[in-house]
Amino acid sequence: MPSAASKSPPARSLVAALLPWFAAKHRDLPWRRTRDPYAIWVSEIMLQQTQVKTVIPYWERWLGAFPDVTALAQAPEAKVLKLWEGLGYYSRARNLQKAARQVVELHGSRFPENFADILALPGIGRYTAGAIASIAFNQPAPILDGNVIRVLTRLFALGGDPKEKALQHRLWTLAEELVNTAARIPPPPLPAHFAGPCSALNQSLMELGALVCTPRRPACSACPLANRCLAKRQGTAEQFPETKARPETVARRFVVAVLERDSRLCVRRRPEGGVNGGLWEFPNLELAPADDPSSTASRWLGIPPDRFVALRPVSHAITKFRIRLEVLRAAVPRRFTAPDGGEWHSLEGLDRLALTAAHRRIAGQLASNPPPPAA
Ligand code: ADE
Repeated sequence: MPSAASKSPPARSLVAALLPWFAAKHRDLPWRRTRDPYAIWVSEIMLQQTQVKTVIPYWERWLGAFPDVTALAQAPEAKVLKLWEGLGYYSRARNLQKAARQVVELHGSRFPENFADILALPGIGRYTAGAIASIAFNQPAPILDGNVIRVLTRLFALGGDPKEKALQHRLWTLAEELVNTAARIPPPPLPAHFAGPCSALNQSLMELGALVCTPRRPACSACPLANRCLAKRQGTAEQFPETKARPETVARRFVVAVLERDSRLCVRRRPEGGVNGGLWEFPNLELAPADDPSSTASRWLGIPPDRFVALRPVSHAITKFRIRLEVLRAAVPRRFTAPDGGEWHSLEGLDRLALTAAHRRIAGQLASNPPPPAA
């Protein structure tokens, strides 16, 4: 435990308080009813950057479509992206498939149990490897994510930016000590579907961070560690972790053209490698602050400005950008040539393509709006 050993709670008493709390209070989540490392791996990748309640239906659909590593390795990429549609950060889905292919080729289609082999798979870092090794195989591998960082920095009143190396190292060491302790002490009774005390201990830290030790107004009165928590004792829980302020957001505006020809809509794929690479969207162009959407689209596409009908603008955020999409719809004549890379698909046809989340919201407006008058 940390240098202020006399004031710090010993690992043994923390683990002894956490395990029965988790056994009694854990949420019944679908990936907690299995020990299949593949299913647990998929849940951990989906849960990066995405909330539990959003992930549940995606995880269930994914496991239905790709029940094991072999099914995922053999799937067409378009189907993989379609099942990921709406979760964002699509490199996660691509890496899942790449890793599944490696598991087939290097490990005879059996998900590896060895920590170094798990860590060597694409898209799997120290946290995810630790989560799979502990939750599926009950190995004493530590985990450290945002929830665990919050719990540990409060419990031990650790100041400093957790992104910095020295504190990172300290936190990983504490997480390791806790999971090693769970492996050593006689465990309390745990539900049979948990792989064992290392699985339960790691999940108890995540669960405590998600349900009790929340960023704002932590529910200290419901915390099994309340009388062992240094920040609670000091009345400073909300001050931890001392994360640096996020960089300022940048506003950007685009005009999106929803072009309709013979009841078909023009869409194109985003270039591979960039943000949302390989996903489909309506043709669009970035606007300068003073640009008027319909006159810009008119010059770009050679369509008179009065042929456009404005739909509801769509706002969304990606990384540090706050993006507003000005959406213009127009019917175009048969002779109209699609902008570069554009293809014509029916509205039902769009359902089979993986659209970016923002453009899926635009497509959602089309069914309930009458088509524009023919040109
Ligand atoms: N967040 C990250 N991993 C999780 C898990 N296994 N259960 C609930 N929330 C999580």
